[in-house]
Amino acid sequence: MQNIGIFYGSSTGNTEAVAKKIQEEFGADIASTIDVVDASAADLEKFNNLILGTSTWGIGDLQDDFEGFLSEITNANMDGKKVALFGLGDQYSYSDSFVDGMGELYETLEEQNCELVGETSTDGYEYDASRAEKDGKLVGLAIDIENQDDQTADRVADWVAELKNQFN
Ligand SMILES: Cc1cc2nc3c(=O)[nH]c(=O)nc-3n(C[C@H](O)[C@H](O)[C@H](O)COP(=O)(O)O)c2cc1C
Repeated sequence: MQNIGIFYGSSTGNTEAVAKKIQEEFGADIASTIDVVDASAADLEKFNNLILGTSTWGIGDLQDDFEGFLSEITNANMDGKKVALFGLGDQYSYSDSFVDGMGELYETLEEQNCELVGETSTDGYEYDASRAEKDGKLVGLAIDIENQDDQTADRVADWVAELKNQFN
């Protein structure tokens, strides 16, 4: 049976709410949500499949709690794990740094021995630049609560349906 750890960092609750929606789509019997403020490398190592979600603050900065959690990620043994990313951001107010935090997470995980899954199309977004865009794709699921919340439920459902085929 799949076991999935959904780790999130959230300053005003938006990323936490999306983490819970993702959990609902998988089912709470196989997916757990964990606030990174309370989490360690050992917690990451408990799961075969990981979903990491951060919002972006400042101009392109990782959410504060996630900034502190980066060293736990680099210290964890991630061998053989499948990892998917999601990011919260505002594509109109921060059009040059849209979901950059998710891009920073990707760059950190690229250095580790895990398999990154869950990339998505840029279709439907209108930002100017994003660190999370690599080779014309977004490295994970981008959610914009401020401007496109009417699409959140469908975006989450479609993404989780893909991940169900990819996770161990
Ligand atoms: C001061 C401030 C700075 C922000 N900077 C960015 C940014 O650089 N890029 C981006 O995509 N979103 C940015 N955002 C939007 C947040 O990422 C967005 O509101 C997100 O949903 C917050 O999620 P959270 O409540 O889980 O932290 C910023 C928002 C604020 C208020």
